[in-house]
Amino acid sequence: MAGNHPPVTDWTTDFDHTDEVWAADPYPIWADIRASECPVVHSDRYGGVWLPTRHEDVSAIAYDTEHFSSQSPIVTEGRPMMPAPQGVAPPISSDPPFHHDARRLLLPAFSPKAVEELEPFTRQFCNDLLDQLEGKDVVDAAADYAQHIPVQVIAKMLGFPPEDADIFRTIIHNALESVDLPVEKRLENFGLLDGYLRNQIEDHIANPRDDLTNYLLSAEMGGEPLNEEHVGGTMALLLIAGIDTTWSGIGASLWHLAKTPSDRDGWPPSPSCCRWPSRSSCGPTPR
Ligand code: HEM
Repeated sequence: MAGNHPPVTDWTTDFDHTDEVWAADPYPIWADIRASECPVVHSDRYGGVWLPTRHEDVSAIAYDTEHFSSQSPIVTEGRPMMPAPQGVAPPISSDPPFHHDARRLLLPAFSPKAVEELEPFTRQFCNDLLDQLEGKDVVDAAADYAQHIPVQVIAKMLGFPPEDADIFRTIIHNALESVDLPVEKRLENFGLLDGYLRNQIEDHIANPRDDLTNYLLSAEMGGEPLNEEHVGGTMALLLIAGIDTTWSGIGASLWHLAKTPSDRDGWPPSPSCCRWPSRSSCGPTPR
């Protein structure tokens, strides 16, 4: 988080998801708001933003697609450049009925079989990363391990060169970690993502191969090819959503295990277990 706004002094009237107190530990903030008289709070920051904190409110809003749109999934100063129902990054930015079809066309790429096919590559890549940590007393599990995994997996799915990993990390930083920059600066930063995707699309049209980019380029919705913005927006979504969530998840899990010895009971397993490519033979001993 960039911390380009003044610090928050009242979470019920002026919250900011980039504040360093929130970024360090948002749970007590949410718990306080949830327990207060008004569990849906408003802030004037970012041009006005609401925060529902109870599950029932979040769920009601998510299902009430008549009154609420998904067109702006990231809270920033900017406003959506591509309106509903498609939105800028389908399907996450799309409203029904467009959303249903835009989501459905992605399902084959994430079927159990398609994901299973990626497993040997992913395991091998993780093992190679672990090999590189051998002999080190102290490692940064986020920077030296977690951050590398999703980048390589999603690059493989989309058919992007693995050596472009640093570009993807900058793209994630621009999209999600600098959300409180002024709009003009954010638009300038998005030039990297636009240019990168444009080059990849041109390359995939000139040299078609069996990957998610060529799948999207040849996909149809309602008997028509996807428009250019749809293809680029979905590629951007997969690149960003696929990387940021999972590297945070892997990093946060390792951080939790590092801080919570009782949850490491049964570990480490024997070295042969960790490198064995079968799920059933690898895992903590049941208590
Ligand atoms: C720990 C990992 C992940 C978490 C916590 C996570 C979380 C989420 C959340 C909260 C949404 C919004 C749901 C909504 O709007 O109702 C979402 C949507 C989405 N995510 Fe993830 N995600 C993760 C991993 C991934 C990965 C690995 C990919 C792809 C490579 C991915 C692709 C998508 C897509 C395409 C959508 C839009 C779905 C739709 O609108 O129907 N996500 N994700």
